[in-house]
Amino acid sequence: MTIHHILKQMTLAEKAGQLTQLPPHLFIQTTSDDIMGNVHDLGLNDTQVFLVGSVLGIKNATEMMAIQKRYLEKSRLHIPLLFMADVIHGYETIFPIPLAISCSWNESLAHLTARISAKEASAAGIHMTFAPMADLTRDPRWGRIMEGFGEDSFLTSRFVQAMVKGFQTDSLSNKDSLASCVKHYAGYGAAEAGRDYNTVDMSKLSFYSQYVQGYVAGINASAKGMMASFNTFDGIPVTVNKDLMVDVLRNQLGFKGITITDYDGLNQVIAHGAAEDTRDAAIKALNAKIDIEMASTCYINNIEELVKQGKIDIKVIDEAVLRILSLKEELGLFKNPYRFANPEKEASLVLSKEHLLATKRVALESAVLLKNNGILPLAKTDKIVIMGPYAKSTGTNGAWDWHGDNAKNVSLVDAVIELAPQTKYIDSINTLQNIDASVVIYVYGEDQYETGEAKSKVSLRIKPSDIETIKQLTELGYKVVSVLYNGRPLILEEILDSDAIVEGWFLGSCAAEALTELLFGIVNFSGKLTCSFPRHEGQIPLYYNHLSTGRPYNKEQSDPYTSFYIDCENSPLYPFGYGLSYSTFTYTNLRLSKTEIYNDEILDVYVDVSNTSTIDGYEIVQLYIHDLKATIARPIKELKKFKKIWIKALSTVQIHFEIHTSILTYTTSQNTQELETGDIKIMLGPNSQQLIEASVLYHNKEE
Ligand code: BGC
Repeated sequence: MTIHHILKQMTLAEKAGQLTQLPPHLFIQTTSDDIMGNVHDLGLNDTQVFLVGSVLGIKNATEMMAIQKRYLEKSRLHIPLLFMADVIHGYETIFPIPLAISCSWNESLAHLTARISAKEASAAGIHMTFAPMADLTRDPRWGRIMEGFGEDSFLTSRFVQAMVKGFQTDSLSNKDSLASCVKHYAGYGAAEAGRDYNTVDMSKLSFYSQYVQGYVAGINASAKGMMASFNTFDGIPVTVNKDLMVDVLRNQLGFKGITITDYDGLNQVIAHGAAEDTRDAAIKALNAKIDIEMASTCYINNIEELVKQGKIDIKVIDEAVLRILSLKEELGLFKNPYRFANPEKEASLVLSKEHLLATKRVALESAVLLKNNGILPLAKTDKIVIMGPYAKSTGTNGAWDWHGDNAKNVSLVDAVIELAPQTKYIDSINTLQNIDASVVIYVYGEDQYETGEAKSKVSLRIKPSDIETIKQLTELGYKVVSVLYNGRPLILEEILDSDAIVEGWFLGSCAAEALTELLFGIVNFSGKLTCSFPRHEGQIPLYYNHLSTGRPYNKEQSDPYTSFYIDCENSPLYPFGYGLSYSTFTYTNLRLSKTEIYNDEILDVYVDVSNTSTIDGYEIVQLYIHDLKATIARPIKELKKFKKIWIKALSTVQIHFEIHTSILTYTTSQNTQELETGDIKIMLGPNSQQLIEASVLYHNKEE
């Protein structure tokens, strides 16, 4: 029977059910008896529950199979349930948080993390993941910055694409594939004042040139789903924003997959004041072509009546149901409703040796060395003490680790002592005087659940007790190695006395092992920041690719009527693209193949990058452009290309970039691409601040 035949046989109530997704606790509670728990809380009856089309979250393959079996026994048309879940940075094998992964500037690693997550999760019975998060964010107060890929839309797009491809492979019929639902369309990362769920208000120019890019990358990678964000956009909650969901997403951007609300998002339209009641909310969301309502019941309780009263055209419902059925078909669920769910396979895959090695590899490239006055790498023979609030913590998974278990991780204390057994752990600075030590590894930052959803903060400061301890340690003459666990840029001004600062993020299941190898130089650091670290919260939003002002600040000419703060520098403490390694690199001999280029031509850019140290290492070579004059003001620099290359000690590599004129264009507020005749600066370097530059004159033949 084709899905069209199925649709013909469906009652209105069955159709409404397909458009509904229920949260896990309703299914999990009594699997052995009945699949539903407290459905009455949602105002549903038992019959309705067996019409529901999809499930949010699941414990494991055994549970999924039990629920699917029970459901199919009761379902008249035997339409299998679709199981969705938040597999964000790993299923049971937990990878670094996405923000950290982006600091590897290595998309193949992101792809690998998605592949492994898909293998584990699909064996556990999951069909679609609510990932990746494509939201661009420039605000570290927003706790969900940890779930994205930083402040740059180009880099974000590259990582989103790699993740979607890693989850889905090139076909959902492939073994171990997982459908991907990109989120949270649109602009969720720009919540005002960094407060989660808050209003989003942005210009069309920012939307099309920056914020939309990550979602577009997901669409181009054929992501099967798109989640509507909680926020309003142009004053209308995205969940019922027809302009955004239909005109932009489907008509302009060409998205063909299923759309889903965020958790209880449709119900919340009433709290936004944009719908009178659940009926009104349902009408608005259906007209915005929202296919699945997650965790609320505006659809299932109202659709029958709304269609009968002529308030909703049945065609709208049928279209949405068909999209869902066709995803189920593409996933192969009609042929095998259990798909790849397999408890034995699940058990053999999760936290397997191979997967743990992979997460360690990703962690090694995701940590960022922010400061090093020569104390690192440590030697095993150094007299080391390790301490600090997270020294003994195994909480390195970070938020969104649903199926992960921190208890299975190793603490930094244990990992360091394993490698350098004479290292001593102390829990208070008072005991230090009894120990013969010269170096202190101090582990601190944020608790792993201080970031993530609903974890907005106004203060990004280091805790006063940690600042005080570091001060005391340096006063006592110890060399201090600060190791930070955190999911967002913090204000590090007060810990700059540290001899070394390692940004250890939440690096997942093998965080401690990876950090230990980096601290002792077994592996060289290679990560670079993908978000600026402000000096002060008052600078936020702070991002490298801002526009110039009419009164740009110039440090050399102290003109008081320019764009600056009277109590803080404009620049970040650590800029986008920044990160040290045990190698040192210099950039020389920037050459352009032409001084002038025309439409559709290619400019070759060359630069020599030398490793001037005696240690082999990776360097991330970054290319930025600045279109000096255009009809609209252009960012002072924009990342357009990068290469992560291995350079042997004391050797030089010639790096080549091809620049096609299409990457020089800019996006307008009407979402068109333009490029006008004029000079374009080409800048190359190790980060967004230390750049060498040359210029090329672009001629637009059509002008
Ligand atoms: C989050 C989503 C998530 C959903 C389901 C929501 O609160 O915003 O990102 O996918 O819950 O867990």
